[in-house]
Amino acid sequence: MTFQNTDRIGAGLRPLLNNSVFLTNGEMWKRQRRIIDPAFECGRLRDTFPAMWAAGEASVVRLTTLADGTSQEVEAETSHAAADVIFRTLFSISIEDQVATRVFDEFRTYQRTQPILNLAAFIPGPKWMPRFFKSETKTTASAIRALITGLTAQRLDQIKDGTAPDDLDTKIMTTADPETGETFGVDEMVDQVAIFFLAGHETSASALARTLYLLAIYPDWQDKLAVEAPDLTPDFGSVPKLRQTRDVFREALRLYPPVPMMVRETTCPEQFRDHPVKRGAQVVLSPWHLHRQERLWDNPDGFDPTRWGTENGKACARDAYMPFSSGPRVCTGAGFAMIEGVLLVAMLLRAFKFGVVAGQVPEPVAHLTVRAKDGIWLRFVPRKD
Ligand code: HEM
Repeated sequence: MTFQNTDRIGAGLRPLLNNSVFLTNGEMWKRQRRIIDPAFECGRLRDTFPAMWAAGEASVVRLTTLADGTSQEVEAETSHAAADVIFRTLFSISIEDQVATRVFDEFRTYQRTQPILNLAAFIPGPKWMPRFFKSETKTTASAIRALITGLTAQRLDQIKDGTAPDDLDTKIMTTADPETGETFGVDEMVDQVAIFFLAGHETSASALARTLYLLAIYPDWQDKLAVEAPDLTPDFGSVPKLRQTRDVFREALRLYPPVPMMVRETTCPEQFRDHPVKRGAQVVLSPWHLHRQERLWDNPDGFDPTRWGTENGKACARDAYMPFSSGPRVCTGAGFAMIEGVLLVAMLLRAFKFGVVAGQVPEPVAHLTVRAKDGIWLRFVPRKD
């Protein structure tokens, strides 16, 4: 591979993620993807659908208690819902489970110890320079890993005695690498669960909260989606029918990509137009800029779900769209996230009408993912029509 993942990003996450697929390169990374990818294929996503559905229903129940038209911060709820989706699909437990709640709480603390994304992090330091982590980062990372280790070891026992539920964790732990025949041991599986949780809930929560905000400021789109939402049934096959909901979710991912930039390191000399690029150079890829590039997009800063072509076939720059990255290191969970996003948006719109709170305009900031500086505040009431 000409471009590999750089350790500059990984350095801050290493205490939590260790040798997870997000941080490895070369043969180890290839082997990990061979074992993980089958769990996220379309057929398996169909199997996880009832768990996603149950998480959506639980989110509607939680929001019902807040649906009195007063101002509410929705990023906290979308984080809760996305974490619930991960626990239910991966471990067949809900976020209300004692261990799941503790993992979720510890992750919140962990994220608070992480700096806001800063380009200075990519300026090379000498190789001998030791990496320092805040002691809180290390303590929280080991607390999270201890909890996940408990879940994973218990699952290994269930697999051995034939009582394991048929979920993503069992699927991954029982999949052998087709080339070497090896399966993940407990430690390596803990690394993967940590990245599934981190990559899978922060990103989806960010996308979902932004989508709700966009629907609140574009009520005409909210009405269109509410008309479509009753077509959703507990059947996996009903999700692709929600075409306008998918277009809105895609458009939210274009305007507010949860991962605003990625960094790669060149493994050999490269040429970018007239610029020679040395081996070991840090290359920043920015979905945020690419998605709003004037030369590539009509009305780049405007919210226009019709650009995705299902309504009027308007041209759009699909190749310049990479909220899930692109190429061999594309997000493992892209298909999963597109089902989850459309499903949750439709379930929430079926249940509630969302409106803005005067004077509350969420300012995007890049933490591990793009979040709103002071949260996303909305009012919502039950939808009666
Ligand atoms: C809207 C939701 C999501 C977005 C926008 C998103 C975006 C991304 C992006 C941009 C990357 C590449 C990052 C980089 O290389 O620096 C990535 C990688 C990854 N994502 Fe996602 N993701 C989402 C949901 C998920 C979910 C639900 C899961 C799993 C349950 C997941 C698992 C992963 C993993 C394991 C990687 C590392 C892949 C590798 O390096 O080979 N993501 N994601």
